[in-house]
Amino acid sequence: MMTNEQLSALIDELTIDEKIAMVHGATLFYTTPVERLGIPQFCFSDGPMGVRPEYQSSDWYLKGFTDDYVSYCMSNSALASTFNRSLAEEAGEIIGEETRGRKKDMILGPGINIQRTPICGRNFEYMSEDPYVSGEMAEYYIKGVQKHDVSACVKHYALNNQEEERNIVDTYVSRRALMEIYLPGFRKAVKQGKALGIMGSYNKFEGTYCSHHPYLIDEILRKSWGFDKLMVSDWGSIHDTTEAGNAGIDVDMRVTNDFDDYPFADPLKEAVASGAVSMEALNEKIAHILTTMDALHMFDYKKLAKVNPIFAPLGEDENGKKIKRKHGRYNATSSGKKLLKAAEESIVLLKNEAGLLPLKQKKIKKFVIIGDNANRQHALGGGSAEIKALYEITPLLGIKMLLGGNTEVVYEPGYYNYVIGNAWGHDANGQGGGLNPFHQPTQNEIDILNQRYLASAKKACKDADAVLFIGGLNHDHDVEGADRKSMTLPEDQDEIIEELLNVRPDMMVAMMAGSPVDMHKWADRVKTLLYFSYNGMQGGMALARVLFGKVNPSGKMPYTLPKVLGDAPAHKLGEYPGTDKTVHYNEDIFVGYRYYDAFQVDPLFAFGHGESYTDFTFGDLTLTKTACEKNDIDGDISVTVTVP
Ligand code: BGC
Repeated sequence: MMTNEQLSALIDELTIDEKIAMVHGATLFYTTPVERLGIPQFCFSDGPMGVRPEYQSSDWYLKGFTDDYVSYCMSNSALASTFNRSLAEEAGEIIGEETRGRKKDMILGPGINIQRTPICGRNFEYMSEDPYVSGEMAEYYIKGVQKHDVSACVKHYALNNQEEERNIVDTYVSRRALMEIYLPGFRKAVKQGKALGIMGSYNKFEGTYCSHHPYLIDEILRKSWGFDKLMVSDWGSIHDTTEAGNAGIDVDMRVTNDFDDYPFADPLKEAVASGAVSMEALNEKIAHILTTMDALHMFDYKKLAKVNPIFAPLGEDENGKKIKRKHGRYNATSSGKKLLKAAEESIVLLKNEAGLLPLKQKKIKKFVIIGDNANRQHALGGGSAEIKALYEITPLLGIKMLLGGNTEVVYEPGYYNYVIGNAWGHDANGQGGGLNPFHQPTQNEIDILNQRYLASAKKACKDADAVLFIGGLNHDHDVEGADRKSMTLPEDQDEIIEELLNVRPDMMVAMMAGSPVDMHKWADRVKTLLYFSYNGMQGGMALARVLFGKVNPSGKMPYTLPKVLGDAPAHKLGEYPGTDKTVHYNEDIFVGYRYYDAFQVDPLFAFGHGESYTDFTFGDLTLTKTACEKNDIDGDISVTVTVP
């Protein structure tokens, strides 16, 4: 680890131009190296479901390479529903190893903003409505990632709880709710997870952009939590050179290609020259970057030692052995197996009232599967979280792979999904960029197709031994940059489900979504109901294995499923999306289950709900609080129950 003496000596070696080059993007994901000193460029990559495909250096077009296919890990909301720290660590390890394998330095994840409103477009990238679950999962994910000489980047600090007007919305929330709900996850990620990276958010807090915020960044993150590593902006979240230059944010990345005009490029050089930003403040940024690079073993140690012998020890570990940065790898064969286990554990069985599950393979000669999500791949969608998956097993594929040749598996679309591809509008080769190139059918054409699909599905399921509807959302709805307009299922799925239930009251329903959907119209009529988020490359196989009892479901909802959107506290007590670009979180600390519990509002399914195939009772519940020191907010409460 760099000593203070070495750090100051290295900073002293740098010219102002070299310092400026280190604190802003020279391409969309890279800073500039200082080659003469052995300081490399720093490379960021999204995140958080795996390593994003390669982009042109100054245009938002995919390069269309064939060597950037990677493991498609699950979304953060899926990971959180495992409630399993070891799986978070294991997923983090895969992502970390692949980040390094793809020659990147920092993976832009995990996302841990609190799922305040059910309709936030990025809920799928976030863990939970609960700060404890978010923090615990983040801590272990980060520990996993950082085993591979790459950094995690916990995002978006802070209060980025809606996509609607995300670039400008000004958030007002009480200090209590800030401390008890919105910041504890970040605190844990920094203090326990030892995250080496954090990303500022786009929005404002109390009138100031979060990425320049003296209170959020300097007081809390830097002073109170002691974070002394790299803070990067969100892409374009810095708006004022002087404000941000004087705050503890280090690197300015953006979505535009006017690299020299970035606030931390020429404008920062001028601000330092005029004294508007002190050299001390700039040096502090450089110190954060250099110590992060040191922790990741990024330097060219030979070169550095030649500059000044004082740097020679940096290239050796505590036993005097030469430091070699881990090389990582990607698409290891073992990853598929690990991701299968994680996906299995993330599937939530909401109800199994008629005991239809697990299905008995031998008894099912004809299995009818209806719905767009049975047959849709999701990896390359959602915005910056997109992944070029090495493979992605859809539910239909997984079920067919598992059942083999003795069962007739019939697929019926059930309804026409008329938004094709991801809302960010490109295909896997980077073509299309922007506009959806496909023919948009007219409403009349859609109606005709829907009638045909529904009639066909009804007919097919009449004599089936089992019928399963797999619907929900996709990345046209769970997407960065836009919230959903409501919680209602798209493509008239409510009506279709009800029509199908008239023919097959025993139809099982599975909802695939990264956030809550409104199921209140038909939830009582359905006896078998499953819920899961975007589950990665093995998602379809995991579902098949749960359905056929190869594995006992154990996922739990990481957020509440309200009956209707109006029940959600952000909508009932608070403001959403706010007015005049300002939003007040009047629900205060009553976020998620805290609200439903305290205000006695029945959700459709509660936070933490999740059944298994095992019946058991429990009793003798006792709670024990461990003594905790004054002002220690991390005291433990142990829960003991007897399972006879
Ligand atoms: C997103 C970040 C992402 C960044 C880089 C932004 O639009 O908000 O989460 O990491 O782009 O792609």
